[in-house]
Amino acid sequence: MFSTTSIVEPENPTSKAVIHRGAVAVITGAASGIGLAAAKHLARHGLNVVMVDVAQSLDASAKEVKQVEGSGDVVPVHCDVSNIEDVVKLREQVLDTYGECQVLMNNAGISRPTPAFSLDRDLKDLQSDWAAVLGVNMNGIINVAQAFAPFMSRQENESVIINTGSKQGVTCPPGKAGYNVSKAAVKVFTEQPRLTLSPGWVFTGLSGANDGKPKPPGAWTPEQTIEYMFEKVLEEGDFYVICPDNETTPSAAAPTRTNADFQALDKARIQWALGDIIENRPALSRWHPSYAARYEDFIESRQGLAARSRSRGRAPLDRIPDVPGEREQYRFQQ
Ligand SMILES: NC(=O)c1ccc[n+]([C@@H]2O[C@H](COP(=O)([O-])OP(=O)(O)OC[C@H]3O[C@@H](n4cnc5c(N)ncnc54)[C@H](O)[C@@H]3O)[C@@H](O)[C@H]2O)c1
Repeated sequence: MFSTTSIVEPENPTSKAVIHRGAVAVITGAASGIGLAAAKHLARHGLNVVMVDVAQSLDASAKEVKQVEGSGDVVPVHCDVSNIEDVVKLREQVLDTYGECQVLMNNAGISRPTPAFSLDRDLKDLQSDWAAVLGVNMNGIINVAQAFAPFMSRQENESVIINTGSKQGVTCPPGKAGYNVSKAAVKVFTEQPRLTLSPGWVFTGLSGANDGKPKPPGAWTPEQTIEYMFEKVLEEGDFYVICPDNETTPSAAAPTRTNADFQALDKARIQWALGDIIENRPALSRWHPSYAARYEDFIESRQGLAARSRSRGRAPLDRIPDVPGEREQYRFQQ
């Protein structure tokens, strides 16, 4: 459902080179969710952790990280990543204090209702949500990477930049157009200098964890995501890390699924999305009523399951997510 993209330059450094006592990590969006899990993970390995966020809860989160056994410095910095002046101040503070940065986790992100257009919302209101999402998720990533990368690439010690994108930036499910655009931008931006990462569905502030809701069975915890991501990026040297979640991994809900099935499912979803261009299908045909049965056959055949040959069947319109404007968009395409 969701994913992330990370950047490693110029070659993947080893885990030992960047994750060790006394190394420096800068994590944006560190007050909550995946960023907070990353801060705890790196503090446990003795890194000095600079935690960056706009949230009021940042100082309390930094206190939590300081409690982690073996932690080094834990420095909360209130900074809005969408504001380049703030980001430059952050970089100067890090360089003045430590002179370098081994791990830059470019992770701050927000989600807002951002359909492509709206029949009922005020234009100003819609544009304000779009500007906020692109400002943090796209400009924030670019601001932080562009401010830090030149210094990190010149420093003596190896370093890694990890940009948090999303699977939604690859498969682009209809509905949150602005969020998808921002995460697709992160993917493309990350690919240019061959920086790398991608999580699945993670239960965090963004997906309701801070509102006291219980974790949905399909979601992974931020801690699971961070363990998986660091292993893939630093131990195995992966460029694209598509993190699993319980919708795509074996779980109580689907106990017979193997890890190979999950990889096949994510790969097949991505392959189908790219196939829209190659096969000249309507955009986002995965959610298009005329293609639903063909999509399901494709996914099942790619997972090694016998296709149920429903390709000629026409899926009902209620298969399309009930997002204002979405059904209308598909009707236009038919
Ligand atoms: N939760 C998921 O399922 C999931 C899946 C894939 C990708 N992601 C991505 O993971 C990243 C982390 O999100 P999360 O799920 O941990 O959510 P979260 O809401 O728990 O954490 C995001 C943090 O970013 C901070 N932030 C927001 N705007 C900021 C700004 N302008 N400057 C600095 N900090 C700011 C927030 O205050 C918050 O603490 C995001 O980029 C998100 O898009 C999440």
